[in-house]
Amino acid sequence: MVLNAYIAYARIRHVGGQLIFLILFVKILTNEADISADEFLVTIYFTGFFMPATMQRPTGQSRKESASTSVLGGKHMKVAIIGAGTMGSGIAQAFAMCDEVETVYLCDIKEEFAQGGFSKIKKQLDKRVAKGKLDQASEDKVLSKVKTGLNTIATDPDLVVEAALENMKIKQDCFRDLQDNIVKNPDCIFASNTSSLSITEIGTGLSKPIIGMHFFNPAPVMKLVEVIKGANTPDDMVEKVKNIAVALGKSPVQVNEAAGFVVNRILVPMINEAICVYAAGTSDIAGIDTAMKLGCNHPMGPLELGDYIGLDIILAIMDVIFDETHDNKYAASPLLRKMVRAKHLGVKTGIGFYDYSNGGKVPVDQK
Ligand SMILES: NC(=O)c1ccc[n+]([C@@H]2O[C@H](COP(=O)([O-])OP(=O)(O)OC[C@H]3O[C@@H](n4cnc5c(N)ncnc54)[C@H](O)[C@@H]3O)[C@@H](O)[C@H]2O)c1
Repeated sequence: MVLNAYIAYARIRHVGGQLIFLILFVKILTNEADISADEFLVTIYFTGFFMPATMQRPTGQSRKESASTSVLGGKHMKVAIIGAGTMGSGIAQAFAMCDEVETVYLCDIKEEFAQGGFSKIKKQLDKRVAKGKLDQASEDKVLSKVKTGLNTIATDPDLVVEAALENMKIKQDCFRDLQDNIVKNPDCIFASNTSSLSITEIGTGLSKPIIGMHFFNPAPVMKLVEVIKGANTPDDMVEKVKNIAVALGKSPVQVNEAAGFVVNRILVPMINEAICVYAAGTSDIAGIDTAMKLGCNHPMGPLELGDYIGLDIILAIMDVIFDETHDNKYAASPLLRKMVRAKHLGVKTGIGFYDYSNGGKVPVDQK
């Protein structure tokens, strides 16, 4: 028992913990405490009182936000996020909140777009601090990891996550430029956050395989990451990316390459169908959203979800699934196409099926 006590004492990392341990242990030996010495040792062994530093949660992170898996053998990761829009800024935040990540390069085609992504992250973290979910020092630490700029700042990442527009040529050009002119680390993993495009095709012309790392909106909150294996993606890369997702506190699901993968193949045609139902005059916007919320227990109605995702993204995904399958059931609603042409894209442009001006959310007739 004395040996056990000595081992326990030696493993306590902090001075305060050692002091408390000594006081309690002396009280037990002198019968002042109502617990046996062995019970005491067993109890504190399972409380994390002397947990090794590598297993401890970072300051200010809740248990849910904590990273638990070593993804690069103890080396801290550098990550580049290409595109600082809705998804890019959220993905950058998710990485910056991970204790195993040292630097997040948040890149866009203009400095001010990248800076805009940074401001979105700050706004989100400020909200967490205001709610008492994060302390100020932790917010400062997370923000200090994020460096903004053009894609050219991403010279030494271990991982690139591309979150530029849902367009094959843009994604292909991005990766080619990163490979040929920017990224110097030969072991860097190239991943795309595409919602629907072929991973294999995005990687055309690259000297190494790429992988899909599909986050969901809002990326810091949503648990799922679809890890998409293209035709050339090696199994060890899939395992590495799954581990990275786990380190971010996410739950990865491995998916084979297919238009829309799993979630969007099911979800996006449903949103498109809701737009067809609205265009047919079956019900109004609020009616359709309320019906699906109450009738199917969905947290958001399909039209408000379309606005939230971005109607340009919904249209792009429908077109990809249609082009891939040539099945008319995946034809995009003409009303959806009309709204995208009018830049009524939803939350990001301030108007879609709802008008978001002045912080509001009022249905707008789009027929
Ligand atoms: N919106 C969603 O809910 C969602 C969910 C999962 C995946 N995605 C996918 O994530 C990607 C981004 O979607 P989003 O909603 O964030 O779009 P977005 O329009 O909000 O942001 C795209 C950003 O990429 C930037 N960009 C364009 N070309 C670039 C380039 N060559 N280099 C660097 N940056 C570039 C744009 O300036 C813009 O800031 C798309 O592929 C989309 O399908 C979107």
